[in-house]
Amino acid sequence: MATLVFVANRFGAEKRIDVPEGGEVVDICDHYFAPIPFSCRSASCGTCQVEVLEGEDLLEPPNAEEADLIPLLGGKGRLACQARVRPNVEGVIKLKSVLV
Ligand code: FES
Repeated sequence: MATLVFVANRFGAEKRIDVPEGGEVVDICDHYFAPIPFSCRSASCGTCQVEVLEGEDLLEPPNAEEADLIPLLGGKGRLACQARVRPNVEGVIKLKSVLV
């Protein structure tokens, strides 16, 4: 099973969430009040950019919209509003907000 870990910041304490089915990171953040800020939710603003500290291979590859924006944001990390956790994978995915 995959476990998402969101690093603590001024928006909240660290969150550790088991996601056996995978899924949209944005939905997981909303459901568990993870400390990741969002604005547009459509791969335009960069507010949700996260550094992947661990487990990048447990995420699906970036979709076209995310792949277009990430180079404009410095070429690293992922967009939490677009990223998906692969289903039926094992390990820890550790994400840290770039903004806060
Ligand atoms: S919330 Fe704007 S790019 Fe993700």
